[in-house]
Amino acid sequence: MSNITVNVAGLTFRNPFLPAAGILGSTPSSLKRLEREGAGGLVTKSLSLHPRAGYKGPVIVEVECGFINAIGLANPGVTKFREWLTEYKFEIPLIASIYGYTASDFSEATNILADIVDAYELNLSCPSVTEVSSLSEEREKIAEVVSQVTDSVDKPVFAKFSIEGLNIVEKAKAAERAGASGIVAINTIKAMEIDVSLAKPVLKNEIGGLSGPAIRPIALRSVYELYREVNIPIIGCGGISSLESAVKFLMAGASLLEIGSILAREKLNIFRKLTRELQFFLRESGYKNVSKLVGVAHGA
Ligand SMILES: Cc1cc2nc3c(=O)[nH]c(=O)nc-3n(C[C@H](O)[C@H](O)[C@H](O)COP(=O)(O)O)c2cc1C
Repeated sequence: MSNITVNVAGLTFRNPFLPAAGILGSTPSSLKRLEREGAGGLVTKSLSLHPRAGYKGPVIVEVECGFINAIGLANPGVTKFREWLTEYKFEIPLIASIYGYTASDFSEATNILADIVDAYELNLSCPSVTEVSSLSEEREKIAEVVSQVTDSVDKPVFAKFSIEGLNIVEKAKAAERAGASGIVAINTIKAMEIDVSLAKPVLKNEIGGLSGPAIRPIALRSVYELYREVNIPIIGCGGISSLESAVKFLMAGASLLEIGSILAREKLNIFRKLTRELQFFLRESGYKNVSKLVGVAHGA
């Protein structure tokens, strides 16, 4: 039987499929449910130092090729989340997604969770919250955030980027130089929808982030380019919805995969289904383990 576990940054994931930040995982009980449903590791909803209310509704709209959301990073704050977490124990790696408006926001928030999570994913890329996405407009700001966090915690730190603004390879290199253990690619892409009968934007915030099938080839291209240019593991994210799309991301160079929008359509047993299908694929294609598949599209 092919080995389906994945080792990244010193952590063992029981399979490569993790929930993408923000779709589920807003509470520890929903994370527990994802664990029960077979996720390989867990990612929380993005948390900030202080609670944030987010935007007024409508905050999400379905379009023909995915979803556009402008939730505005609503969350109870990292201290409250920590309180909730203390009642739970997880058997698989738990990654806290963290965002802030300054480097010290990030490092304070990560420190509050230091003894209770296994790794961090720094959200430097939410397209509908400018204070957050502007942090990845300059290499120096990325370096400041990532190094302040990596200097103050001794857990793996992944940096999550979108393709907006600065070239994603440049962003990733800045994060790598500052000590990041991996790159998550990609966050959503700025988009909007208009309600014809009302003659106005559907989302209250007008502009949101596009996710789902529409962004899959863009995310795949990002992972492919990143694999050539950075030497730390890549977590692929964006429109993954089937075994075939998952295998494409692994072949492009992703070591782990985050799945988001598809969770709104499929039953949660998608984690088990994808894992079973990947196991079958590896066996049939003669790959001993998942890592043997990582980056094969780049050739020898
Ligand atoms: C409703 C919704 C909420 C999201 N919230 C977050 C979030 O809190 N933090 C974050 O880093 N990304 C967030 N994202 C982006 C996803 O984690 C992911 O990067 C993106 O949706 C692409 O993956 P997908 O096409 O599989 O959905 C959110 C996406 C959606 C659709």
